[in-house]
Amino acid sequence: MGLLATFLLPTVPAEASAPLRTHAASKGKFIGAALATSPLSNETAYRNIAATEFNQITAENAMKWDATEPSQNQFNFSGADAIVNFATQNNQQVHGHTLVWHQQTPGWVQGLGASAMRSAIQNHISQVVGRYADNPAVVSWDVVNEVFEENGSMRSSFWYNTLGQSYIADAFRAARAADPDARLCINDYNVEGINAKSTAMYNLVSSLRQQGVPVDCVGFQGHLAIQYGFPNDLQQNLERFAALGVQVRITELDIRMQMPRNSSKDATQATYYRNVINACLAVTACAGVTIWGFTDKHSWVPDTFGGEGAALIYDENYQQKPSYTAVHDALAAGTGGNDTTPPTTPGTPTSSDVTSNSATLSWSASTDSGGSGLAGYSVYREQGATDTLLGQSATASINLTGLTPNTQYQVYVRARDGAGNLSGNSPAATFTTSEGPVGGGGCTATGTVQTQWQNGYVVQPVTVTNTGTSAVNGWTVTFTLPSGHTLAGSWNASLTVSGQTVTARNAGYNGNLAPNASTTFGFQVNRPNGNTQTPSGYTCA
Ligand code: XIL
Repeated sequence: MGLLATFLLPTVPAEASAPLRTHAASKGKFIGAALATSPLSNETAYRNIAATEFNQITAENAMKWDATEPSQNQFNFSGADAIVNFATQNNQQVHGHTLVWHQQTPGWVQGLGASAMRSAIQNHISQVVGRYADNPAVVSWDVVNEVFEENGSMRSSFWYNTLGQSYIADAFRAARAADPDARLCINDYNVEGINAKSTAMYNLVSSLRQQGVPVDCVGFQGHLAIQYGFPNDLQQNLERFAALGVQVRITELDIRMQMPRNSSKDATQATYYRNVINACLAVTACAGVTIWGFTDKHSWVPDTFGGEGAALIYDENYQQKPSYTAVHDALAAGTGGNDTTPPTTPGTPTSSDVTSNSATLSWSASTDSGGSGLAGYSVYREQGATDTLLGQSATASINLTGLTPNTQYQVYVRARDGAGNLSGNSPAATFTTSEGPVGGGGCTATGTVQTQWQNGYVVQPVTVTNTGTSAVNGWTVTFTLPSGHTLAGSWNASLTVSGQTVTARNAGYNGNLAPNASTTFGFQVNRPNGNTQTPSGYTCA
């Protein structure tokens, strides 16, 4: 088996197939992952990938206040040490996360009066940062995390309500005193693009630095979702911060989707991952990108965003996804040296196993003689002037999912090598998906957040489409409200709530839908101040 396999495999130069960390290092960047202590001690596959692919590590939870100082002045570094030891063994750097945050901070801190709270911050920072000050693996800290509301005002956390804004400067000064060599960061979410919140961050960092407060770096969390679009001004935003003299970095990248996963969502996600890496590569002051976990098996997303998931670059079985390839190829771009030779054009794809929503394509493989090795294939759909990416594959076949029933697809394939050279387009092939379940009255529902504010949002429209082959005369859409959210009103459907589950039934006038016909309804929700969740995963019956 070994001999046969070796004989048949194309020879891929080590350089092109090297792990992410090798390519990142050659670009002078880090590629990081957040790690959780339990799989780190229990799962070999988790440990192997974490060690091999990444050169920077963030503790997903083990360095937070509730883990390190659960009761006053009683420190517990077992999880934090496990992370630091793992990093040391694998020649990785550690980014400390996080010192002062309004979440995962024990109740005893939250109830303190001003002067006791100030002392508690000083003591916590001096103990936690001090413990690793002489440890060469630990190079940086998130000193404060998520200090802003969405509209750019200071978050009304217990820190701010007890101490006013001064706690931020105090925390940075305490961290500098505890470890003069560590790079000190401020970190937040929804600041990737240029908006009210990121501008407030920009103004704060600028003013703190003018006052001599040691803010060295700004972290952009990067919890993105394919259904909300890509922040196309990410690079421009990073550049304006860099002009303040700070280092920038993407600290918690994950790109979620509404479940179920399919090949076209995977392809969009891969494009988003590539865009983030490319933005960081394009900005000298961007130190690197950390992915918030790496496997969908251990991701906070499904627990946090109802109906969403599959946000990372490995699937639940530790298999690399198209998003891995995207990160890899973006980091590897140019490492082909003077390889400007594209792979040969792949053969005409042939379709098989065509169903109402999926199809398998295979084609004869490309070869590459440019020296950077074949990296994979992209499958496109020809649609008038615009071609859409349907999926990506490392091998000469793909299982396309999430297709539309009863639809003709004209598709072609391109190969790409490790240096990013693209082959020509293969000849196109055509297949037609079958009709959905006959008379099954299938329907779909998708919701769009029209507007949102600090403590509420409007979802409009929720589009209900009859995907079956016969008319329906009544439909039901169910979805889950994130916890703490309450329905404030609705239109064009009647909504009933049980627990957090909402059932929407058609109104008298929009229950009849011919095949392929759509109708819409909408609703408004109240949510806790500062909570940014919205529902997803609408199920239609
Ligand atoms: C998340 C962790 O991933 C979860 O395991 C935990 O239950 C909650 O916190 N912003 C941050 C991170 O700065 O610390 C959060 O991590 C995700 C949002």
